[in-house]
Amino acid sequence: MQTLLIQPESRLALNPQYQSHSLYPSEADTVLNAEGFYRAKHSISQWPGYAPTPLFELSDLARELEIASLCYKDENSRFGLGSFKPLGGAYAVASLLQKQIGTHHGDRTPDISELIAGRHRHITGDITVTAATDGNHGRSVAWGAQLFGCRCIIFIHETVTNAREHAIAHYGAEVIRTPGTFDDAVRKAAETAKIEGWHVIPDTTDGTLIDAPRNVMQGYTLMAAEAIDQLPDNQIPTHLFLQAGVGGMAAATCAQFWQTFAEDTPTIVLVEPQTAGCWFDSLSVGHPTAVAGSLESIMAGLACGEVSYLAWQILRTGATAMMTINDAVAEKSMRLVADPQRVDPPIVAGESGVAGLAGLIEAASDHQCRTLLGLDEKSRVLVFGTEGATDPESYHNIVGRPAHEVTNGQHKP
Ligand SMILES: Cc1ncc(COP(=O)(O)O)c(C=O)c1O
Repeated sequence: MQTLLIQPESRLALNPQYQSHSLYPSEADTVLNAEGFYRAKHSISQWPGYAPTPLFELSDLARELEIASLCYKDENSRFGLGSFKPLGGAYAVASLLQKQIGTHHGDRTPDISELIAGRHRHITGDITVTAATDGNHGRSVAWGAQLFGCRCIIFIHETVTNAREHAIAHYGAEVIRTPGTFDDAVRKAAETAKIEGWHVIPDTTDGTLIDAPRNVMQGYTLMAAEAIDQLPDNQIPTHLFLQAGVGGMAAATCAQFWQTFAEDTPTIVLVEPQTAGCWFDSLSVGHPTAVAGSLESIMAGLACGEVSYLAWQILRTGATAMMTINDAVAEKSMRLVADPQRVDPPIVAGESGVAGLAGLIEAASDHQCRTLLGLDEKSRVLVFGTEGATDPESYHNIVGRPAHEVTNGQHKP
């Protein structure tokens, strides 16, 4: 396997397991499929405040990177939570509650509109959901629990910032801080839930628990489907640069494009922090491989040491290449897209949210990487800005201005 070093700490390699995107494979279809997508869309599109997030064309940056076009799907405005995450965690909460109410009612599963109207609060009020999080997922589960009327307890690990903790507590959840990394918090949530009779809503799985993490990913597919509907002139992108933590977002996006475009599915490049390259390592050797160490990165949502088993079923053969970037590269990209001097619309992109774009900027600036990925002046690239300033203080420190001073989503090209 050829690994390219772009600068001392960034790496790019082709996935040895990648099989060209022909038919969507059955092992992926058992995880995410059209029926699941329509169920998720039916639910989420009825939630109060639902609206597709905008897709921006960054023509000036595309010119600088010597590619034909660059589209940025901006998740900053999603349900007022600042990231794409409510599509997943809150959807998994809604699905769990519908199922639980169904068992009370002799298997008549209520429509989502009944939950939104609060018709089953006498049942849902006795249900507790829990999750481990590095910030955004816990916020999404807490928000969903509040919206659909159940109790919520969220586990965070030692380095999650206070701002992220408060953002979760804001939605009425109890927050418990535990020693260790994100992966340790995942285990702690699962163990405690077993003892207390709570329902775990993880965004990752080792294969033992399937329903909730599958629903989390199925909810994310709506983001990809919206982007497909918004593509300028219906032109299919040639490349997607997708940031990966446990891989749920990247797998959901890959799956939605693969089901829609089959052999015309874009080249898919996974982007991770240099300290937490679990996809890089796992795809390199052909099986899930944990990354040890503190996993420390400003890209908090991507600081995961273990891939999700469900995402693996899709990305093992669906990801074309993988790369790791360091924190400085993400910071530089955050400043670049927020710069008011640029011709492109200014964008508020958070640390994890900018990683796909940062990976593109790195790869496009390196001749060997361009060749390896087939990136050239005909390439149409799509990236997903999966969060805005979800940690406002950290954002301000990095960009030099608060998020509200950076025009976001107002300016249409
Ligand atoms: C903003 C943001 N982007 C991307 C991701 C990565 O998602 P996944 O862990 O499903 O790969 C996360 C995960 O928390 C996130 O918070």
